[in-house]
Amino acid sequence: MRKIEIAALPGDGVGVEVTEAAKDVLHTLARAHGGVEFSFTDFPWSCDYYSKHGEMMPKDAISTLSQFEAIFLGAVGNPAIVPDHISLWGMLIKIRREFELSVNVRPAKKVKGITSPLANPKDFDLIVIRENSEGEYSEVGGRIHRGEHEMAIQNAVFTRRATEKVIRYAFQLAEKRNNRLVSATKSNGIVHSMPFWDEVTKSVAAEYPHVHTQSTHIDALAAFFVSKPAEFDVVVASNLFGDILTDIGSAIMGSIGIAPSANLNLEGRYPSMFEPVHGSAPDIAGKGIANPIGQIWTAKMMLDHFGFEELGQVLMDSMEEVTEAGIKTPDIGGTANTRAVTEAVKEKILETARV
Ligand code: NAD
Ligand code: IPM
Ligand code: MN
Repeated sequence: MRKIEIAALPGDGVGVEVTEAAKDVLHTLARAHGGVEFSFTDFPWSCDYYSKHGEMMPKDAISTLSQFEAIFLGAVGNPAIVPDHISLWGMLIKIRREFELSVNVRPAKKVKGITSPLANPKDFDLIVIRENSEGEYSEVGGRIHRGEHEMAIQNAVFTRRATEKVIRYAFQLAEKRNNRLVSATKSNGIVHSMPFWDEVTKSVAAEYPHVHTQSTHIDALAAFFVSKPAEFDVVVASNLFGDILTDIGSAIMGSIGIAPSANLNLEGRYPSMFEPVHGSAPDIAGKGIANPIGQIWTAKMMLDHFGFEELGQVLMDSMEEVTEAGIKTPDIGGTANTRAVTEAVKEKILETARV
């Protein structure tokens, strides 16, 4: 029996509701199919925690988390009580950086039973590989208060090490899938980072001559995600470009509430972190109607990460049977609540185990 030690960080808002749901589903899966056990240790780090303690996480949080094999995070942010730049730099971004989670994997595909807002979405099935530790999300810069000459400066930071790492990961994935890779660029813009990004893409591409590689400007690419998503397979992008592309990916699937993601430490030196693409959704938090699919699909990515692909497939199939049966939360056109969707997924898992 393999026991996986996971730190659960429900965080804020709907993060708490959907992590509870996904943990429940994972326990059901483990009990029904055997071979694995999930041991979750919950940490209450959040904006509420900040209100009481003056920090998002305790000083030794990183060393505490490093004892675990994985981190299962809901969402961070409650701008009504803590400004986002404090909560995010203090928790989400801090974990991504301290643990060198430089590769963010975000799939988007046509899900059974969920209507895409696109008139003719075809069967798209793409994965965005997003650089997750630097780029446009840098700490270099600041605010300068000079009366009417006040300004804000933000420097993007692209290191060869991180750029190469994420691009090489994307090529390796393209090789395992369909040998097709698109790199998001903006080399026609007056920025220094993108010609550098393209150069690195070219040099890594030389190691993968059988992968068809194309660099596409981010503005056009964003439009193509809407007009012809089925043409994409693996897409690699910088931090900010990847952030925006993956919200589009979520939207064309039908809702940001269903999109999953994995933040990987490729070296295996630190725990990888699994969290959905969506945030804490303050507008619906506490109503019990958050879509748990994003967090449940994220759990599937965690299962795959630990080599339990068959269980991951059971989870995915059960989830799609539920959406196909029309048991859906309001964001994807249904009337079910979080609990009802979760119970339905659990029931499907138990049915699979019985046959
Ligand atoms: P958001 O993703 O929280 O919400 C955007 C929209 O999607 C809202 O209408 C919301 O109701 C809906 N939505 C999100 N998740 C849903 C779900 N599971 N089910 C149904 N509907 C869902 O983005 P936002 O409003 O820009 O940000 C809210 C807060 O979350 C901010 O503090 C932001 O910084 C933070 N945030 C955190 C993360 C993260 O922790 N990874 C990601 C994005 C935003
Ligand atoms: C995401 C989120 C975060 C990001 C924010 C909350 C910092 O939007 O995970 O996509 O931009 O990475
Ligand atoms: Mn985002």
